[in-house]
Amino acid sequence: MKLFAFFLVFPFILSLATACDRCVHKSKAAAFSSSSSLSAGACGYGSLALNFNGGFVAAANSEIFRDGVGCGSCFQIRCRNRELCNRAGVKVVVTDLNKSNTTDFGLGVRAFAALARPGMADGLKRLVITDVEHKRIPCEYPNKNLSIRVEESSRRPNLLTVKLMYQGGQTDIVAVDVARVGSAAWQFMTRSYGPVWTTSRAPGGPLQFRFVVTGGYDGKWVWAQQAVLPPEWRSGEVYDAGVQITDIAQEGCSPCDTQEWR
Ligand SMILES: *[C@@H]1O[C@H](CO)[C@@H](O)[C@H](O)[C@H]1NC(C)=O
Ligand SMILES: *[C@@H]1O[C@H](CO)[C@@H](O)[C@H](O)[C@H]1NC(C)=O
Ligand SMILES: *[C@@H]1O[C@H](CO)[C@@H](O)[C@H](O)[C@H]1NC(C)=O
Repeated sequence: MKLFAFFLVFPFILSLATACDRCVHKSKAAAFSSSSSLSAGACGYGSLALNFNGGFVAAANSEIFRDGVGCGSCFQIRCRNRELCNRAGVKVVVTDLNKSNTTDFGLGVRAFAALARPGMADGLKRLVITDVEHKRIPCEYPNKNLSIRVEESSRRPNLLTVKLMYQGGQTDIVAVDVARVGSAAWQFMTRSYGPVWTTSRAPGGPLQFRFVVTGGYDGKWVWAQQAVLPPEWRSGEVYDAGVQITDIAQEGCSPCDTQEWR
């Protein structure tokens, strides 16, 4: 209940500041060869990341990665060299951390090439690092709900570790609770890393989940009121959470970019 009180106060403060869902930031991007870093990605998506967003994935600096909270967030990035680059740029999903302090994003080779104007990809690749601007955008998975992958370290009935996938919208998931369907005894889960949450006190199934999503100044519960995991849930399986997140959190910045990059 405390959470609700906290969240209700903030929209008022926000309306006084410059609320913006598309703050543009100047940054730098580098190309990396995707094969090595995908399966080792700090968000732990492994090869599943190839299903995200057509495989357009990025390694973000620690400010964007935010100890893993930024895993699965989406950005539109375009480069600032008008001669070599198109104006729409590329939409990427964060799947990894880049510890380098010289770039903000490491882009897979395909995503990096997609920054270029027709015929200019080779010229762009020669730059290796390029000046870009980026803004956070909602993630869109038209044919997917938020999904829950049961991790291999889980042991029925009580040890449950899940990885959240296909997180839509433009928010952060800051809390995850699990309960037996129909029960009000919610058990909180703890973030292990990135999109992975765990509890050693999972109730017996069937199980339902609720999520607190927030970002910037606002937040709310997202709640699937139905069975997500069956009583006999299995490691390695991906279960549909029965909801998708479409909310867009605000940041404070000025000026706010109201244009579509195309
Ligand atoms: C960047 O990282 C290198 C090595 O980790 C360090 O020596 C350097 O001071 C850092 N530069 C900045 C601007 O933080
Ligand atoms: C991280 O950044 C460095 C330098 O900016 C770049 O060379 C490297 O390929 C990047 N790595 C990843 C995984 O993005
Ligand atoms: C998402 O969940 C809803 C509610 O359970 C369901 O009706 C819908 O078919 C699901 N969508 C997808 C794409 O699986």
